[in-house]
Amino acid sequence: MWIEATIQLLFLALLTSAKRYWDAELDKQLEYLELADCPYQVEAIGCYKDDLNRALPSEILNSRDRTRRSIFMEPQIQWTNYNHWLANFICQGARKLFEKKPNTFADYIGVQFYGEIWANLDEEVRTKYNKYGSSLNCVNGNYKKVLSHKPTQCGLFVGDELANYVYKVTRYNKDEDSKTCPYFESSGCWADNDPYLKPHQRPMTVYKMNERDPYINNWNKKLIDWGNWGKGYLGDLLCRCAELAKKENMKYFSIQFYGECWLGNNETNFKRDEKTDRCVDNKFDVCDVDQKTKCRAQLCAGKWKANKVYELKQGPHKCATSPCKNEGKCLTIGTNDYVCQCKKGFGGDQCEKGSPAVNPTDEIELS
Ligand SMILES: *[C@@H]1O[C@H](CO)[C@@H](O)[C@H](O)[C@H]1NC(C)=O
Repeated sequence: MWIEATIQLLFLALLTSAKRYWDAELDKQLEYLELADCPYQVEAIGCYKDDLNRALPSEILNSRDRTRRSIFMEPQIQWTNYNHWLANFICQGARKLFEKKPNTFADYIGVQFYGEIWANLDEEVRTKYNKYGSSLNCVNGNYKKVLSHKPTQCGLFVGDELANYVYKVTRYNKDEDSKTCPYFESSGCWADNDPYLKPHQRPMTVYKMNERDPYINNWNKKLIDWGNWGKGYLGDLLCRCAELAKKENMKYFSIQFYGECWLGNNETNFKRDEKTDRCVDNKFDVCDVDQKTKCRAQLCAGKWKANKVYELKQGPHKCATSPCKNEGKCLTIGTNDYVCQCKKGFGGDQCEKGSPAVNPTDEIELS
C-alpha cells in the first residue's frame, strides 16, 4: 500500500518539477518575433553546431530538395526574396512540429542549410539542440553572418550546412479579438508631463477608455489583469485600443499608466513633451526609447505620465489586393507582407509564369 503511495508521490513530484522547469523557461524568454498570421510564438535561441548524427534528429520539413518527397513543401527556397520566404518557412516548421507532437506545448526547431527544419520527435527525450556547442555559421535573411551565436540582432536567421539556427516555438492562443487586431506601428515613448490638465489639453487629446479605474466614466468594465499583464493582457489591450482608434478615425493611439487607452490625431501635439524612457515591455523592462534595440518593441505601455504611442496603419493587408495570379494562394508574412504559393505548373513571385496545361487542377500540397 505505502509503496503505491510513494510511487504516486514521486510521480507527482516529477510532474511538478517538469512544470516548474517549463515555467522558468517561459519566463526567461528572450525577445521573440511576432510573425503575423503565424499562430505560434517564435523565439530566436541562437546558432548551434550540428553533426551528421543530428542534435535534433528528425528532419520534418524540407524546401530545398524536391526529391525529399515525403517532407518537401512548396514554395521552394526563394533565394532572391529569402528574408520573406524564411518567415513563412519557419512558421510552417512550427506548424509541422505541433502536428507531429500534438501534446507538446512548446519545443525547439532548428533551421538548417537554408531550407531544412529539424526537430526532436521523441516525446520522452528532452531536446538537446546544443549538444555540439554554439556556432557562428548562421546568417540572417539577407545572408549576413551573425555576429554572435546569441540573438543580439533583430530579424530572422538560418544555419548554413551543419548548423542549426534554433527557435523555440510555443503554441499561442490568439483569441477572436486579436485575430482582427488592426495593424499598427510604434511611434515612440513620449512624456505626458502634466496629468492634471483636462484630457483635451494633454498630448494625446482623447481619453477614450480605461481598464484601471472603475470610477472614471470611460471604464471598460474590466480591470487590468496584473497576473497576466505581460503574458497576453497587454497585447489584447493594445488590440482593443487600436480598434477604438480605427472606429473613431484617429491616426494614433497610446497606452498610458498600464491600462489607459488614449487617442490622438496630431503628431506635433503628442510629441509636445520630451521623449522618455518611462515605457515598459511585457516583462516590465524599459522599452527602448528609439525602438532600435528591441525586436519586440511593439508590445509596450507607458507608465505613469508617459504615452507609448502607436500609429494605426489602416491600409488593407497586401493579400487583400489578391496579388497572386492563377489561383495562387496568398500567405501573409511579417507584419505586412506576403508570398504567393502557386498551383502546380505556375511560378514566379506572383505565380504569373507557367502554363495551365500542366496539371491545372492539382492543388499544391501544404504538407
Ligand atoms: C497640433 O498641435 C499643435 C500644438 O500642440 C498646434 O499648434 C497645431 O495647431 C495642431 N494642429 C492641428 C492640425 O490641429
